[in-house]
Amino acid sequence: MASITHADAPQRPEFISMRKQKHMQQATRTAKHKPLSDSRTLAILGAGKMGGILLQAFAHYQGTPLLELSATVQHAERAGKLGERFNIPVTTDNRRTARNADVIFLCVKPQVADQVLAEIRPEVGPNKLIISIVASVPTSYIENKLGKEVPVIRAMPNTPSVVACGMTAICKGRYATDEHMDMAKKLFSSVGRCAVADENKMDAITGLSASGPAYIYIILESLAEAGVKVGLSRELATELAAQTVLGAAQMVLKTGEHPALLKEAVTTPAGCTIDGILELEEGKLRVTLIKAVVKATQRAKELLIAK
Ligand SMILES: NC(=O)c1ccc[n+]([C@@H]2O[C@H](COP(=O)([O-])OP(=O)(O)OC[C@H]3O[C@@H](n4cnc5c(N)ncnc54)[C@H](OP(=O)(O)O)[C@@H]3O)[C@@H](O)[C@H]2O)c1
Repeated sequence: MASITHADAPQRPEFISMRKQKHMQQATRTAKHKPLSDSRTLAILGAGKMGGILLQAFAHYQGTPLLELSATVQHAERAGKLGERFNIPVTTDNRRTARNADVIFLCVKPQVADQVLAEIRPEVGPNKLIISIVASVPTSYIENKLGKEVPVIRAMPNTPSVVACGMTAICKGRYATDEHMDMAKKLFSSVGRCAVADENKMDAITGLSASGPAYIYIILESLAEAGVKVGLSRELATELAAQTVLGAAQMVLKTGEHPALLKEAVTTPAGCTIDGILELEEGKLRVTLIKAVVKATQRAKELLIAK
């Protein structure tokens, strides 16, 4: 059966009115919300460790129609070096950079957020999208500081995004639409996994997956040391440890099995793994990791107030 194409549509009165309606909706939207598919420019305000990682990732990303990148930092000397490295405009001028961008990433420390928001306030409106990765700062706080109907998405990425193995959680503010969320998902999925979460979970996510790489590096460092202790070269021990962590993580993600069941498959009765596990239990690894996430979550809640 032939499908109805747009070329067929004008002959049918109900189609004409539907098209008219659509056109009117689009015209209203264009006046207020520029379609995100037309977005061409992305700015990173605060291209430090995390902002710099996203900048590097997006510079190599072909998946969205975002063609132009720009960034800001605090120090002019660093701006010069970053600009040269990525061959993009990097300055210390947040306001001008925000003016020229459709999608604005806020990547400064919580203590600096107020200042940057005040600077960009005259340049933002409903036709821009702000994606904030600033820990502790709610979307409502940003919306109130800007005092306008600006679409805001809060995101919590992590540093493995630099090797396209990141984990980001996103939530939307009052004026952000599903289309804005799709755009954010697309961008963060280009550097790893992206999950949607309720905003009241963002501090917990900060304490688990944003701080998490640091915990795992300590575990990796310790496993490598252990390898050295039992006679392996440091190089081999590090490779064995890192690939083991990667493999175990992939098993959890790909099989969907509970980690306890996967652990059981490694633990032969009266074998050597159970002896290792006994040591871990005695050293309270489990409780220590839980406490680390709880503490980091508490701290994430305080950062905005502590500034
Ligand atoms: N690091 C992580 O793993 C991670 C993960 C998730 C979220 N975050 C969040 O990302 C944010 C930044 O953390 P970070 O670790 O990337 O810190 P960082 O390395 O210190 O980066 C902060 C950046 O902000 C710039 N900056 C400072 N004042 C500025 C201003 N007035 N205008 C423009 N840029 C300014 C700094 O410029 P200079 O380079 O010139 O000093 C620096 O590049 C924080 O809110 C944090 O919660 C971090």
